[in-house]
Amino acid sequence: MGYAELYKAAQEDPEAFWLDQARAIDWITPPDRALFDRGENLYEWYADAQVNGCYNAVDRHVEGGRADQAAIIYDSPITGQKQTITFAELQTRTARLAGALVAQGVEKGDRVIIYMPMVPEAIEAMLACARIGAVHSVVFGGFAANELAVRIDDCTPKAVIAASCGLEPNRTVAYKPLLDGAIEMATHKPDACIILQRPEHPCELGPRDVEWHAAIAQGTPADCVPVAGNHPAYILYTSGTTGAPKGVVRHTAGHLVALNWTMKNIYQVDPGEVFWAASDVGWVVGHSYIAYGPLIAGNTTVVFEGKPVGTPDAGTFWRVISEHNVRSFFTAPTAIRAVKREDPKGLEIAKYDLSGLRALYLAGERADPDTIIWAQETLGVPVYDHWWQTETGYTIAGNPAGLEALPVKIGSPTVPMPGYDVQILDEGGNRMAPGELGAIAIKLPLPPGTLPTLWNAEDRFRKSYLTTFPGYYETGDAGMIDEDGYLYIMARTDDVINVAGHRLSTGAMEEVLAGHPDVAECAVIGVSDALKGQAPVGFVCLTNGVNRPHDEITAECVKRVRDQIGPVAAFKLAVVVDRLPKTRSGKILRATMVKIADSQEFKLPATIDDPAILDEIRTALKSIGLAQS
Ligand code: COA
Ligand code: AMP
Repeated sequence: MGYAELYKAAQEDPEAFWLDQARAIDWITPPDRALFDRGENLYEWYADAQVNGCYNAVDRHVEGGRADQAAIIYDSPITGQKQTITFAELQTRTARLAGALVAQGVEKGDRVIIYMPMVPEAIEAMLACARIGAVHSVVFGGFAANELAVRIDDCTPKAVIAASCGLEPNRTVAYKPLLDGAIEMATHKPDACIILQRPEHPCELGPRDVEWHAAIAQGTPADCVPVAGNHPAYILYTSGTTGAPKGVVRHTAGHLVALNWTMKNIYQVDPGEVFWAASDVGWVVGHSYIAYGPLIAGNTTVVFEGKPVGTPDAGTFWRVISEHNVRSFFTAPTAIRAVKREDPKGLEIAKYDLSGLRALYLAGERADPDTIIWAQETLGVPVYDHWWQTETGYTIAGNPAGLEALPVKIGSPTVPMPGYDVQILDEGGNRMAPGELGAIAIKLPLPPGTLPTLWNAEDRFRKSYLTTFPGYYETGDAGMIDEDGYLYIMARTDDVINVAGHRLSTGAMEEVLAGHPDVAECAVIGVSDALKGQAPVGFVCLTNGVNRPHDEITAECVKRVRDQIGPVAAFKLAVVVDRLPKTRSGKILRATMVKIADSQEFKLPATIDDPAILDEIRTALKSIGLAQS
C-alpha cells in the first residue's frame, strides 16, 4: 500500500486500521476495541487492553533474539565518555532501578519526576517507571528551580530521580541545589530522591536523598506489571499562554502503537538499525525518539551529551553518525543552522563516511529553506521537515519516506499522517479553500498516542484545544494546504514562541517581569533570530516615580527571567519604554511590535489608540540593535 491508500484506510475505518497496527505490540491482554468514545469530544485508545511499556521497549527484544544488540549508545563529547548498553544489560539495569523505586514506596500510578542530563540513566529512569506502572514526568535541565517547583506541585511526585549535575560546554549545572530549592519552594514534598552522583560534580546528600547504587541495593529487581491501555505512561509539561505549564498526558497503549508505526514508515529504520535524535530527554522529541520509539521498534538509540558546535567542533554530528552507523538522524533546524554558521562549506562533513545515513529529519520549529537546501547539498541525503507538537507526541504532517517517499516541497512538512484529518479553518470554523491561510485544526478524534487530556486539568484541556472549533483539536498553529494536499505551517496563533526549537511562553516571561517592583506594565515578543529562529525581547514601563538607571533595571529583568524560568528562555534583551502600543480596547499590539523589530512592512492596525507610540517602540528597538533597516 502507498501513502494515499493507507491514509484513506485509516480515515475510512480507523477501528480496523489501528487494531491492525496494534498487532506489532506485545500485549498481556490484546485490545478488543481500538477507539473508546468517552463523550463530549473526549477519546481514548485501546482502553480495554493490558500491556507494559518497558516490556515492549526492552524485555521483548531480549526474549526475541536481540539480547546482545546495542540498545543505547551513549556518546558524550563533553566528558569524552562512550558506552554501549545491550538490550540484556538494559533489562537488568532497568529492573534494578524499578526495584529501587519500589523499595522507596513507589507504586503503580504514583508519579515520579525525573530531572536528569543526557546520560543513559535518564532513559533507564523513564523505563523503570514504565516497568512498574509509575507515571514519569521528565523536567528539562535548563529550567530554573521555580519551574521545577511548579511541576512538583502539579503532579505531586512520590519520588524524584535526579543526577548531581548536568554539563553544559561552558559550565557545570549543579542540579542538586536546584532540586533542593524547588522542593523547598513547593507545597508538595516527595518522599525520596534517588540521586545519580556524577564524578564531574558530586553533591551532598540530605535526609530525603538516596544515592543511586545504594537505592538499588535496597531493592530487588522488579518485573513488568500489567497496566491498562489508558494508563498514563507520562506527563510532560509544555508552555501555554500563561505561566502555568500544561501537563500533557500520554496514555500507554496508544503511544506504543503509534511510535512503533513511525519508526519504519516515517524514519525508514528496520529493527537492529541505529536511529539518532539529537535532542534532550526533557522534550517530547526526547521522549518519543531518544527513549521510547527506537527501543520499542528494536532499534539502537543514541544518547548524545553535547551540542552541535563547540563540543568540540562543527563536525561532532557527522562524527557520531559515521562512528555509530546512524541510519536516520533527527534534529532541530536551529542545530543545523549552528553547524552551517561555523562550517558553511561543510568541510567537516567531508571528513567522515556518512554513506550509511539515509535521511535527515527536522522538526521543532519552522525549517527555513536556506537550512534545508544547505543540508541537502552538503549531506547528499533527503532532508525531511515534519511538523508535530508535544501534545501529539509524533508527526502530524511529514513525509512517509519508509512507506513511500513523496516529493519534497521546500517550506512544507508534506502531508498528514494516517489518522490526522488536518483542516484549515477560518475564524468562524469554516473550511478554507486550498492556498488560503487560516487556523490549523484536526478533526476529532485524534489518532492513538496523542494527548487524551491535561493532567488534573480537563477544563483547561477543553478550553485550550476543543472550544474554539467544536469537533476539532485546535493546534495553535496557522497555515494552509495547497492543491496537492501539502501543508504549510506559517505562525502560531497564540503567545507561544519558539527559541532554538524550544517552545516558550511570552506570557510566562511577562508574568516574571511584572513581578519586578519597578515594573508597572510589560510585554514580551519573539523577534526573528538568525540562529535560534526567534528570540524573546522584553519591553517594560516603569512605575511612576522610579528614577533608577534603566540599564540596571533591564539587567535585573534579564536575571529574573533566568532565575525564575531558566537559561533555556534565552531572555537577554529588555528595554524601558514610556508606553506600550495598544488598541483602543487596551490590547497590546504585540504582532505589530514584532514587525517593527524585524523591519517588516505592516499595516497600521485600524484600532490603534495612538500611532505615535510605534515610533517610540522603533527607537527603543534600535537602541538594542534591532529594527535596523
Ligand atoms: N541544562 C542546563 N542548561 C541548559 C541546558 C540543560 N540541559 N540546555 C541548554 N541550557 C542553557 C544553555 O547553556 C544556555 O545557557 P547560557 O545562556 O548560559 O549560554 C541556555 O540554556 C540556552 O540554551 P540553548 O537555547 O540550547 O542555546 P545554546 O547556546 O546552548 O545552543 C544551539 C544553541 C542552537 C546549538 C542549541 O540551541 C541546540 O542545539 N538546540 C537544539 C534544539 C533542540 O534540541 N530542540 C529540541 C526539539 S528537537
Ligand atoms: P513542541 O510542543 O515544543 O514540539 O512545539 C510545537 C510547536 O513547534 C508547533 O505547534 C509549531 O508551532 C512548532 N513546530 C514544530 N515543528 C514544526 C515544523 N516542522 N514547522 C513549523 N513549525 C513547527
